[in-house]
Amino acid sequence: MQTTVLVGSIRKESFNRKIADFMKERYADTFRMTMPELEKLPYFDQDTEETPSDEVAAFKQQIKDSDAVIIVTPEYNHSVPGMLKNALDWLSRVDKVLTGKPVLIVGASPGFLGTVRCQMHLRQILAAPGMSARVLPGNEVFIGGVHQKLGEDGSITDTGTVDFLDSVMKNFETFAKAEPAL
Ligand code: FNR
Repeated sequence: MQTTVLVGSIRKESFNRKIADFMKERYADTFRMTMPELEKLPYFDQDTEETPSDEVAAFKQQIKDSDAVIIVTPEYNHSVPGMLKNALDWLSRVDKVLTGKPVLIVGASPGFLGTVRCQMHLRQILAAPGMSARVLPGNEVFIGGVHQKLGEDGSITDTGTVDFLDSVMKNFETFAKAEPAL
């Protein structure tokens, strides 16, 4: 399945990026993952939504061509990092390319809650009329204490986390291939 992964951090040593990279390799047999550079997108501007820049147009086309979308993101100040929200706003206008798209949300933080509050907001955002994404219910991937769960090479060494991710990705595959209920 062609899959676009939206990573909410551009930090060089980002835990979330490492998790996304781990997932890209581990689930390559089913999900062909590509990760657009969200930091290259300009700020959303309603004045240019009908005539977006090449970067924005290519980004929207990539989502349109995807069978599935995976969001892997940190939580910033109890919510969604601005860069990720900016990308989602572009997707919600004119050609609403997230509509009906199967989406999985994953998040990691060194803290105990593992992005719970960010993910609650994300689910709300993804249900907005311009988004109308098909978010996988349940299967909430909150990776808390992430700094203790990755090895030197960035792979996930915590077997409980890997086992859980394996089961979630199986569920997501089934969900993404199923006909939408509506
Ligand atoms: C954070 N961090 C954080 N963590 C958390 O669990 N809840 C939060 O609300 C916040 N808020 C927050 C705001 C800002 C501006 C920064 C920079 C950081 C800490 C955050 O989880 C930590 O820095 C992660 O390592 C960021 O993810 P990446 O970059 O490692 O993927």
